Amino acid sequence: DKAGHKHFMSKEIAEQPTVISETLAAYIANDASDINLPGDGVDFTKINRIVMASCGTAYYACLTAKYWFEQLAHLPVEVDFASEFRYRTPPVTEGTAALFVSQSGETADTLAALRYCEGKASSILAVTNVPESSIARESDLNMPIYAGAEIGVASTKAFTCQLTVLLLMALKAAHARGHLTGEELKVKLAALRGLPAIMNQAMGIEEAVRDVAVQLSHSRDALFLGRGVMFPLALEGALKLKEISYIHAEAYASGELKHGPIALIDENMPVIVMAPRDALFDKTVSNMQEVMARGGKVVLITDAAGAAEASDGVWHTIVLPDIDDVIAPILYALPVQYLAYHTAVAKGTDVDQPRNLAKSVTVE
Ligand code: F6R
Repeated sequence: DKAGHKHFMSKEIAEQPTVISETLAAYIANDASDINLPGDGVDFTKINRIVMASCGTAYYACLTAKYWFEQLAHLPVEVDFASEFRYRTPPVTEGTAALFVSQSGETADTLAALRYCEGKASSILAVTNVPESSIARESDLNMPIYAGAEIGVASTKAFTCQLTVLLLMALKAAHARGHLTGEELKVKLAALRGLPAIMNQAMGIEEAVRDVAVQLSHSRDALFLGRGVMFPLALEGALKLKEISYIHAEAYASGELKHGPIALIDENMPVIVMAPRDALFDKTVSNMQEVMARGGKVVLITDAAGAAEASDGVWHTIVLPDIDDVIAPILYALPVQYLAYHTAVAKGTDVDQPRNLAKSVTVE
């Protein structure tokens, strides 16, 4: 049932404020002062490293979480594709928590990576959408994402719910390890509880994104740029666009641009820049100006302050509501989902069942 939407993907994008509220309600204590993990939880004071291995969009959720765990909880994190991790014989020692993110909980490579860590890692953690799945059952602790069934092959609401659970874990770890006071934790939790309303408000950008998408649908290639916690979002934007619209898209960390990819820039190369007005904004904007100086057409995704400062000469600016820097990646998933969706609709491709793809990849 598409609930009046043309595609499951559009329905699932629209559901995000609701399902994120449910995820938050499942983890945040009633008095909003603490985060409850299932079962015995995780003792983050006994962990000195986290390894994560996943595939596709779930891998990008892990990459985002790396920024959070390192910055907030001072915990070193390594993230790898499950298909690489499983054959690389990486050392996994005492004090290491191994974390596997998977919507289906059945992805063959992710399950194999989990099994590789059995008997090596101090604890095996899973973040899944299917509590009965193999990955959920074979972990020491499964953290459900409460996204509800996701039918569209391109992951949307599962991604933002994965991010929500991972951010809650990182905040919990930061508090447990003494890097966030009880008061600071409360402030972050209050901000997180405001996210569904802000995301609802952000849905007002859909028409503006659709106008950009109609123009983007004529392109053969596209580049996505982001710095810091926006870099994994750029990767996710490129994946989403190529998988449902079949437009070739790549993502780079903004600072990498001048080390090669800038050679690709001309008037036929739309460049989508993800840049809220945060501490790294000026750096990203200077990379964006290098693109414009070479004739590149820029779509800037930012907030009101960012738009006021940097939209001169930009092809299109998409303005999102203000949000806490730490939470921003969850909100900035929305414009990249809309962009991919409306580009695919404009091209007339099969949005919910893109060619050559399966929802659950149970063979390697
Ligand atoms: C992309 C997408 C895939 C999955 C990947 C992992 O939109 O949906 O990249 O994220 O196949 O699947 P799970 O999360 O089920 O392990």
